[in-house]
Amino acid sequence: MCNIFQIVWKPMLLRRTICILACIVQFATCGYQRSIVHFDMKGAPPKVAYFKQLLTTISGLGATGVLLEWEDMFPYQGGLSRVVNKNAYTEEEVISVLEHAQQLQLEVIPLVQTLAHMEWILKTEEYSVLREDERYPMVACIGNPESLDIILDSVNQLMRIHSNFNTGYVHIGADEAFQVGICDADREILPVKYDNNKLRMIFDHLRMVSLNITEEYPSTKVLMWYDELKSAPLELIKEYNLDNLVIPVVWKYTANLDNDLPSEMWKNMSYSFKEVWGGSAFKGADGASRYWNRLKPYILNNKEWYLQNEKYKPQFTTFDSIIITGWQRYDHFASLCELWPTSMVSLALNLIVLTKFHIDKESAEQVIQALNCPQTTTLDQLVAGSDRCRFPGYRVRDSIRDYVQLKTFFENSTWVHNRENGWLQSSHMRISASNPYYIDAIGKAYERTLKKLDTVSNSLSTSFSEVFYPDVIEEFKTDYFQPFYEDLQKRKESVDNIDTKRFYVPRPWFRR
Ligand SMILES: *[C@@H]1O[C@H](CO)[C@@H](O)[C@H](O)[C@H]1NC(C)=O
Ligand SMILES: *[C@@H]1O[C@H](CO)[C@@H](O)[C@H](O)[C@H]1NC(C)=O
Ligand SMILES: *[C@@H]1O[C@H](CO)[C@@H](O)[C@H](O)[C@H]1NC(C)=O
Repeated sequence: MCNIFQIVWKPMLLRRTICILACIVQFATCGYQRSIVHFDMKGAPPKVAYFKQLLTTISGLGATGVLLEWEDMFPYQGGLSRVVNKNAYTEEEVISVLEHAQQLQLEVIPLVQTLAHMEWILKTEEYSVLREDERYPMVACIGNPESLDIILDSVNQLMRIHSNFNTGYVHIGADEAFQVGICDADREILPVKYDNNKLRMIFDHLRMVSLNITEEYPSTKVLMWYDELKSAPLELIKEYNLDNLVIPVVWKYTANLDNDLPSEMWKNMSYSFKEVWGGSAFKGADGASRYWNRLKPYILNNKEWYLQNEKYKPQFTTFDSIIITGWQRYDHFASLCELWPTSMVSLALNLIVLTKFHIDKESAEQVIQALNCPQTTTLDQLVAGSDRCRFPGYRVRDSIRDYVQLKTFFENSTWVHNRENGWLQSSHMRISASNPYYIDAIGKAYERTLKKLDTVSNSLSTSFSEVFYPDVIEEFKTDYFQPFYEDLQKRKESVDNIDTKRFYVPRPWFRR
């Protein structure tokens, strides 16, 4: 039995064909025709040069296109220009990126949020009046016409530039609308216009957004995440013409899709929609603060997506496209998760999984070439991140890997922690009292580790500055590096202080 799980996790030479021929034949007609790689610009957006290198690599890996979620990095004009990221790309930069994608024959799909996940706008004082729930900066108050204005403005500004580059699709987001029907405008309009049915109000909003796009840009189709559609009554989808106006993108990043995407959901989808897309993940879906890509959950997820396609394809006229998402944060406020450089191998292998299920000789060679790896590279090396591939941003990958190894090694040093438990607790550090016989050696361990951390810290800074804007290293270090470093520093200082003491007064040492 040919099984990607075995193929990926059994030690083997990447360049060898392991798969049985039967398997190739069995799956030959399946797999996605269109694999779109997601760029999530709401965290660690790539600098322009790196952006273009990434596009080149992605094209080399066999992706057919990219989904660009610009968020606050797009050079919006007018009112929105006041709230865009201060690092936002210029219009010339955006155009040069799109031109590069076009030269590579990558299909480009812009994504702009039109219902929820509008934190970048709604977080500001200026636009806070447009919040659905004034406490939370996520969902727009869609009952307020000003919300529709700002949303259509953002879509149209984006499309004005994108439409010069064969924009067959635009993605209007619309996932995770956790609050609806709360703002004053909604509560006024709900009974009058929507029979107190919040879904009607949402559908009417999405209809107006989609209509605007298809009227302005007749050759552009509208994609949206399936959240609001998945359990909606069929009549309502029809009533608001969404079955003609949008194409649902079913997303799920787990390893048990048969359970998490019930066949009844697919059946319901097929009643309304002729075409459906899938949404898997290669990074950013394995814990909001994970910064090293574990690969395995993503391989499992994409393998499942291959099988979902095989299973449900017959129910639709068209089910041959998938967006492989790469989240940089869970939302605008969340911490950074796996960055691009730590996830290139995941992307490479998962793109193969989506199109072929198994990793054959030909696709392995494609990976080696696209990631600029030595010919002798093994799959084990790629999985461990210990390869010598020179893909864009590899220095960032190397320095994060070195940090992870250093940290794991220290956390693995049981003898240090045993001594800490006995002789360097908070109480010892607070009053600078302990038995030097037990703590001197761990003081040396702190010192060695701190010294290595200084080296890693430098390589993190240098490598990050090559591909990311300066705020990224600051945030990354604050969350993932400093706490560990400062804890060791504090412990090392305690050991030093205790070592200066020669005598102690009689106990008790603690009084209230
Ligand atoms: C779409 O929205 C834009 C921006 O609000 C507006 O200028 C344009 O007239 C609208 N187009 C249609 C067809 O309604
Ligand atoms: C499918 O649609 C029916 C009828 O609208 C609904 O009762 C059911 O809950 C839906 N199933 C799923 C899994 O959404
Ligand atoms: C940490 O310990 C685990 C389990 O003993 C081991 O597999 C791993 O290689 C160690 N890691 C490091 C960096 O020492």
